[in-house]
Amino acid sequence: MPAAVRPTAVSLLTPHYPVRSLANTGVVALGRPWAGLPSPPVKSAAERRELLKGVYEEARGCVRCPLHQTRTTVVFGNGNANADLMFVGEAPGANEDRMGLPFVGQAGKLLDKLLAEIGMERTDVFVANTLKCRPPDNRDPHPNEIEACQDYLRRQVDLIEPTVICTLGNFSTKLLRADSMGISRLHGQAEIRVIGARAVRLYPLYHPAAALYTSSTLEALRTDFHRIPELLALGPPEQPRAFEESVPELDELLVEAERPAGVDELLVEAQRPAGVGEPEPAAQLGLF
Ligand code: URA
Repeated sequence: MPAAVRPTAVSLLTPHYPVRSLANTGVVALGRPWAGLPSPPVKSAAERRELLKGVYEEARGCVRCPLHQTRTTVVFGNGNANADLMFVGEAPGANEDRMGLPFVGQAGKLLDKLLAEIGMERTDVFVANTLKCRPPDNRDPHPNEIEACQDYLRRQVDLIEPTVICTLGNFSTKLLRADSMGISRLHGQAEIRVIGARAVRLYPLYHPAAALYTSSTLEALRTDFHRIPELLALGPPEQPRAFEESVPELDELLVEAERPAGVDELLVEAQRPAGVGEPEPAAQLGLF
């Protein structure tokens, strides 16, 4: 499915796939479990990319939790900034930490395979993690790390405005549902949740890494995965009540205030080919 066709796209799989039906409506929503300011109105693909780059530039220098001391690279996430479908995994592993990209190891290969089975590829989706930095020895994320990192994920969701978010495994499922119920009880059950500024179809799935070694888990993951096109075909859920027009200049509040000085130069630099040991920053956003 070509990614660049978003606003008027017609899915190969689902002829009535109503992508971005809220585009240009100016709708913003109430009800933000992660608090903060309301989001700006729906943006163009180019604006989304630019704004995501701004968040990435901030994350690149993040020292909000001790993981910055042991990481090689911040793994911000990558894919289509204008995607309807977003995946949220757990945390970068060793390969991801080295390359600066999410899901590049065996679990990532399985993710690619499952995507292909539903007629999609990485360039159609955005893939991120609960944590942007690798926990040493691939240990589980600690609560303080999740707490420190969640604002980046919230801002990614706010900017990308996906219709469907697939949480992969326990950590992202618990975070985005704000509940401790585990993935084995929840997998394959879509529900509408307000995340950040928007209502999305949240769809918990088993983590692909768990499916690598257990055939019953793989079977369940595949069955659940094959329902994703159906969910996408439903389009965005009804959004919470729109904000009044009196909301201040949100673009400036959310973006300019958070952009570090000199970010324009950083963005120009980000277009250069990567040096040894340093992944190309633009590639981390997948400018598809
Ligand atoms: N597992 C994850 O949860 N995320 C990755 O990026 C890789 C493996």
